[in-house]
Amino acid sequence: MADMPSEFWAGWIVVITVTSFIALIWFVRDLYRAGDQDTGREDEVWDETLREGARPAPVWWFWFILALMTVSVVYVILYPGLGSYQGVLRWSQGGRIAERFVDYDAQFGAERRRLQALPLAQLEGDSDAMQSAWRVFNNNCTSCHGRDAAGQARLFPDLTDDSWQWGRDETQILETIRSGRQAAMPAWEPVIGAQGVEQVADYVLGLSAGDSGSPANAEGSALFLQFCSACHGPKGSGQPLLGAPALDDEAWLYGGDRAQVIRSISQGRNGVMPAFGSRLDDAQIRLLTAWLSAGARIPDER
Ligand code: HEC
Ligand code: HEC
Repeated sequence: MADMPSEFWAGWIVVITVTSFIALIWFVRDLYRAGDQDTGREDEVWDETLREGARPAPVWWFWFILALMTVSVVYVILYPGLGSYQGVLRWSQGGRIAERFVDYDAQFGAERRRLQALPLAQLEGDSDAMQSAWRVFNNNCTSCHGRDAAGQARLFPDLTDDSWQWGRDETQILETIRSGRQAAMPAWEPVIGAQGVEQVADYVLGLSAGDSGSPANAEGSALFLQFCSACHGPKGSGQPLLGAPALDDEAWLYGGDRAQVIRSISQGRNGVMPAFGSRLDDAQIRLLTAWLSAGARIPDER
């Protein structure tokens, strides 16, 4: 009991346990030594033949108590129970957990070290590794990104497409999963007004449709250059360092119809990808990264 607040309390437990044990022995001994005797006091007759006496408890009771006492003595010798004495077997809950870890390592350790040592590119080609990755994804990510990783509800991005908001190379994906991401797209209506929002929204919709720099929307183009290009790039091709998505492609996080785009620009967006660095270990995060960068394909069920 290493977590005893002090030796003082450990000592107390020893004193209390041993004292109660001696008291119990005393009590049993007294009970049986008294024998079958009459108190001899006439006034203790309660009703005809029913009168106070002192008869010992049945003999089986004695053996029963003796057996219980023996078991408790043996228990206290073998297991922790007496203050900070650890018991002959040195059993402890912490020790049990440590044993389980050793078992776990014996069972999966070699495979984990093999996967840990493989470069990500080779992990992608290893079908066992991809099976494990898919299981990790299934347990941790599908609630938001969907079972097929294709995103859902215009809130959680599609991870199977070619459009990567926070960057698609492996160090960036590792970082996204390990530390999470917090996107900061400001609300623009207070800055450029409702009309400005509509103009720049039309400009952005034009970028997405492929007619960049359409002269028909000079106001939108000017607003974009002034207020948006710092994050989204002068041509709207995005900036992974800031999580600013490309606006010149057909992939939309929050939906690409005019109303959705206006909503994104006027009120801003602040998507949060939670950090998994404390929930998953390094091997699991590498597996996920390899699986995502290989296209997030669901492996054939076996
Ligand atoms: C400070 C950097 C920053 C600036 C400046 C900025 N954005 Fe953004 N924008 C972002 C980020 C980051 C996101 C992603 C938000 C998210 O993931 O929740 C985003 C998202 C968007 C989206 C949603 C894209 C989608 O796929 O659904 C649109 C549309 C958009 N921005 C347009 C604009 C326009 C127009 C301007 C200029 C008026 C602008 N942004 C200025 C950082 C910025
Ligand atoms: C609580 C919901 C939630 C869970 C659970 C979640 N994600 Fe996300 N994830 C998001 C959101 C929201 C974004 C978009 C963040 C933004 O707008 O910038 C995101 C973004 C991402 C991105 C960046 C995509 C890009 O285009 O750059 C990756 C990669 C990713 N998630 C992987 C995962 C993995 C792997 C897991 C499981 C370990 C996971 N996510 C679990 C909500 C979630």
